[in-house]
Amino acid sequence: MGLTSSIQLAGGSGGPENLRPLLATALDALGKGAIERDGPLPTGGAGAIGALFAEDVLPLDGSGAESALEGLARAFVAGAADPADPTCVAHLHTPPLALAVAADLVAGALNSSLDSWDQAPSGTHVEGQVIEALCGLVGYDPAVASGAVTSGGTESNLTGLLLAREHALANALGAHPVVTGIPAEMHGRLRILCSETTHFSVARSAGVLGLGEDSVIGVPLDRDHRMDPQALRSLLVDLRARGDLPIAVLATAGTTDLGVIDPLAELAEVAAEHGAWLHVDAAYGGGALFSERLAPLLSGIERADSVAIDLHKLGWQPVAAGVVLAQRASAFDPMERRVAYLNTSDDEAAGFQSRLGRSLRTTRRPDALKIAVTFRALGRRGLGDLVDRCHAQAHHAAASMREHPRLELYRDPVLTTVIFRYRPENGDPDAINAELRRALLRNGRAVVGRTELDGAVWLKLTLLNPNTTEPEIDALLADVIAAAEEEAR
Ligand SMILES: Cc1ncc(COP(=O)(O)O)c(C=O)c1O
Repeated sequence: MGLTSSIQLAGGSGGPENLRPLLATALDALGKGAIERDGPLPTGGAGAIGALFAEDVLPLDGSGAESALEGLARAFVAGAADPADPTCVAHLHTPPLALAVAADLVAGALNSSLDSWDQAPSGTHVEGQVIEALCGLVGYDPAVASGAVTSGGTESNLTGLLLAREHALANALGAHPVVTGIPAEMHGRLRILCSETTHFSVARSAGVLGLGEDSVIGVPLDRDHRMDPQALRSLLVDLRARGDLPIAVLATAGTTDLGVIDPLAELAEVAAEHGAWLHVDAAYGGGALFSERLAPLLSGIERADSVAIDLHKLGWQPVAAGVVLAQRASAFDPMERRVAYLNTSDDEAAGFQSRLGRSLRTTRRPDALKIAVTFRALGRRGLGDLVDRCHAQAHHAAASMREHPRLELYRDPVLTTVIFRYRPENGDPDAINAELRRALLRNGRAVVGRTELDGAVWLKLTLLNPNTTEPEIDALLADVIAAAEEEAR
């Protein structure tokens, strides 16, 4: 295959035949690259990766489809960290379902884009259905609520905070800062309340929204690392007394490290008392709503004004599969735009609806397709079972850690993360835990997470592979202990 196959298209009636040999090559590269890697990541650390990609990335004359795809895909796979490996457990980096990846290929082949109906008739419809289903899952009235698929929790939280800012300033002053900027008299007086365990990107989003990162006020935590509703109440009273405007309380359902879920119902009560928007970052924990056993942990989420859920975490989707939902579709009004070449009102009146006003992006992939395929294939019960399996793994890991004299468990898992560390007899525990993790990365044996809590270094297992077995978890812990003993020697 030469240049001719390089310029064949993925869509049209010839698309499948154009794709077929290339897919065979891609699948072959997936298999061969994994054999070359032989583990969760390549050995040799960062230095080893460059050698895989020695060839010029933009030569003057191309090498042709087959050779480029074969060579680069294989190098990519050989040099990747594969979350499907039971020892690749550092991050909320889910192993995607083969089914969802196959559906994503279809979405990619058509290149549907959700900024106008005429680029995505089916994509527009499917996203509407997925959003409706998720509104129902959260406990919203799907006839009144709305939302969009996003690039992830960062964009979903940014969007939720944007809606909150518009709502607060429209209520307080009739102002629409998305159009006119933040009124001068409100500069430095708009506040977001969240806890110190809130995702780091929230402060950056506050900056992007023109509020400044210092608009974010930390609400103290209770003994279980949850946002303390009483402390929130006192802070809101103080803020109001000094003339500040709390635009949002941002609660988390599933913090990145501990998986802690803030007391949503109580926080909703306090936020409502003070007329503050409640946004729930359920990027991680939202998937627990599929599980009958775990869903009650999120009770009260239905009272949030907006919610972020990532299905590329507890949803087994390839990135990107974030979702932002708002309890009332009208919250999106400030984002609506009429664009002459995308969504005229006469087209919309004739039924050619566009989802342009649901997103900060213009061109947007139909990421809803892979989600819809997964939902239909597994159903809520099937997804709940996957969540329960990962949750059970976390409890198994915690029990094994408790039994080992040199492992210290930080606290019982809430969702699917487990925080622990090795307690050496001698030596600096922080340095030993940090170094043992790097040693596992260097020798290609495991990708274990690292974080800092109470001023100390801790390790983290983020268990998202429903097929991982208990013996595999125990073998991983044995590897961690062996690496620790090596470092402590
Ligand atoms: C609680 C929480 N919120 C938001 C995010 C950001 O999500 P994304 O990386 O999909 O933008 C993360 C990422 O891990 C998270 O754990």
